[in-house]
Amino acid sequence: MSTKAAPVTNAFSVEEIRAQFPILKELIHGKPLVYFDNAATSQKPRRVIKAESAYYATINANVHRGVHTLSTKATEAQEAAREIIRRHINAKHVHEVIFTSGTTASMNLAAFSLGQLLLKKGDEVLISGMEHHANIVPWQMACERHGAKLKVIPVTDSGEWDLKPQRRSDATDSATSFSAERTRILAISHVSNTLGTINPVKKLIAEAKKLGIITVVDGAQAIAHLDIDVQDLGCDLYAFSGHKAYGPTGTGVLYGREELLERMPPWQGGGEMIDTVTFEKTTYAKLPFKFEAGTPHIAGIIGLGEAIRWMEDYDKASMAAHEHILLEHATKELLTVDGLRIIGTAKNKVGVISFVIEGVHHYDLGTLLDQQGIAVRTGHHCTQPLMERFSVSGTTRASFACFNTVEEVEVMVGATRKAVKMLR
Ligand SMILES: Cc1ncc(COP(=O)(O)O)c(C=O)c1O
Repeated sequence: MSTKAAPVTNAFSVEEIRAQFPILKELIHGKPLVYFDNAATSQKPRRVIKAESAYYATINANVHRGVHTLSTKATEAQEAAREIIRRHINAKHVHEVIFTSGTTASMNLAAFSLGQLLLKKGDEVLISGMEHHANIVPWQMACERHGAKLKVIPVTDSGEWDLKPQRRSDATDSATSFSAERTRILAISHVSNTLGTINPVKKLIAEAKKLGIITVVDGAQAIAHLDIDVQDLGCDLYAFSGHKAYGPTGTGVLYGREELLERMPPWQGGGEMIDTVTFEKTTYAKLPFKFEAGTPHIAGIIGLGEAIRWMEDYDKASMAAHEHILLEHATKELLTVDGLRIIGTAKNKVGVISFVIEGVHHYDLGTLLDQQGIAVRTGHHCTQPLMERFSVSGTTRASFACFNTVEEVEVMVGATRKAVKMLR
């Protein structure tokens, strides 16, 4: 049974939400800001900004180290945030929530430590063809260190995993099979940052578990849009960044199942992560501190706790429903632009839309949209192998948050149409 707090039934009002984001009042090149780069980083509500600055203004001190009042208060505030996150993702234990600086750090921790624990020559790590570089490169590095191989689940034309080969029971050398003998780790994204595809992670995790494969999920693009229940997903590790979920930059989480975390070696050494140190030998601290060397981003963690509470107050499902309306409207309207092709047409998507336009370079389009106050991301989105899969050098990507509006989508579509006329 979920231990999540009962959802607060605030009626979803986009105007009321917008009023909480100070940055939305900014003008860009004299135009109202239309912020459609939420997959890169979301904007922050006032409550989060206040929580972070209140720490510096009233309780700034290092955590766990001092007996003095401020240190105790800072420690309590940080640990309260850990409990908020535990409850939000339905982890069983609060010490299963490890603070990191973001998904990239979480994945490097996972790859380094699981590599040490599990990988040997001839073993395989299975990822998918739509991964962000943060869920490719750390595994490549681990494979190089231990003589293992990286295998890749292919991506279909609609931007979904091509799972047919996964269902084969034989352990062949195919690049896409699970092999009971060789596959040790499955590392996959819950939601694609480039395509918006919501992947069937629960199903694949269940198949991997039957073969004793350790499962790691990159939840960077899921945390702000989906209800995450790590026990229901059944994953061993789950990573996300705070800044993509209305929280501060420089914050992130690696959830891990207690029994696995106990077996995993630490990846960074230093203060806070030790029990005893002599020049001959060091013993490590209990979970989660074994994985948290050095002074954490205390203010950021407190801000992240507030961001999670804020999302819970407004109800993620209502936010997602609103973002879906924006996605559908943008898809319909953008497809009327001459020569425009959407990359990523899966049925199950979050509010992310990537597109290319015949005869128009994404960089030029992004620059012209910026002139109109519209912030979109252009380029490869840290998914170069995926760009190669679709034979494009880059895309223009609009990614929506709960504070965006249908009117803003219309402004973007109109500006795109105008830009295409200028650029062709
Ligand atoms: C799917 C995915 N994974 C990992 C990352 C890396 O996140 P961060 O830069 O916060 O470490 C991102 C960032 O865009 C992402 O979209």
